[in-house]
Amino acid sequence: MNLESLLNIFGNQKEGEFEPSVNEGSSEKKNHSDDHKNEIQNPQKEKEKQALLNLQNGVVKSMVELDEGTVNSVFLVEFTNGTSGIFKPASGESAMRKIEHGTLFKRERAAYLVNAEMNFGFVPPTIIRKINGQIGSLQLFIPDTLPYYEIRREEISRKEHIQNQLKTFWVYDLLIHNSDRHMGNILCEKVDGNFNLHAIDNAASFCKSELRFDVGNFFDQELPEDLGEKISNLRKNQLLREKLRALLLELLNKKEVEAFFARVNLIGDTIDECNSIPRSRYDTITNI
Ligand SMILES: Nc1ncnc2c1ncn2[C@@H]1O[C@H](COP(=O)(O)OP(=O)(O)OP(=O)(O)O)[C@@H](O)[C@H]1O
Ligand SMILES: [Mg+2]
Repeated sequence: MNLESLLNIFGNQKEGEFEPSVNEGSSEKKNHSDDHKNEIQNPQKEKEKQALLNLQNGVVKSMVELDEGTVNSVFLVEFTNGTSGIFKPASGESAMRKIEHGTLFKRERAAYLVNAEMNFGFVPPTIIRKINGQIGSLQLFIPDTLPYYEIRREEISRKEHIQNQLKTFWVYDLLIHNSDRHMGNILCEKVDGNFNLHAIDNAASFCKSELRFDVGNFFDQELPEDLGEKISNLRKNQLLREKLRALLLELLNKKEVEAFFARVNLIGDTIDECNSIPRSRYDTITNI
């Protein structure tokens, strides 16, 4: 893996065969008019593609270190194009048990790619970029949000909507084996009277650390329908799987990548069979 491929925001395509991973959910070749149709049909993905470009090309206007309770060095960066991002340089990463030191920024990007290729859409666009000579992860800053622990009371009146989002986060965290989903790592944005949840700080993933899901577990509970569909779409689509595998291999080691795909299969089978994740399957899933 080389620096050039790491810095390629849209994955491992060469220049000229631009096929943004955020825009397709599949690496199958499509003609130009299909792409155009998709963009018209899916303004959300077009917005995401633009955000990735803005993060990649932005000229730094200001950079401020956030030092309230952060474990790693975290900077809020403003760009002259109006975009802001959260930058976490590799050099500011703290040592963590069971995670190779200096790899958190790659895991942050890997978690984003899984979210993008599986069409989850709740991890803010995230790239790897050098800023002031330091390589790190750069994630789109989502303005006007509250951490999940601050909206728990309000949540009661909108229980179903939020619960479905949390269930999806829970399964996503099982898929990527995220060991750091505490309530501060879920940002809540108010959209049309409802809260839209964003999963941030996904770096402690694809590892062997114990899982953490402070919001609660959803064992044996019915899961949102589209969740099973997203997993089976990845399992059925060989091109998409190969594309995602290649992208992840630039960021993680082979064992970690194969463990991810083994979890996809096991969790996919479990949901197909039970439309839930029984507690009895937890150890098998998390011990992969
Ligand atoms: N994409 C984002 N949009 C808006 N704010 C963000 C974003 N990412 C991070 N933040 C803010 O920056 C803070 C620190 O970021 P983050 O949680 O990623 O860092 P950390 O040091 O790894 O934290 P932790 O203490 O959870 O391990 C968050 O609690 C949040 O307030
Ligand atoms: Mg955090």
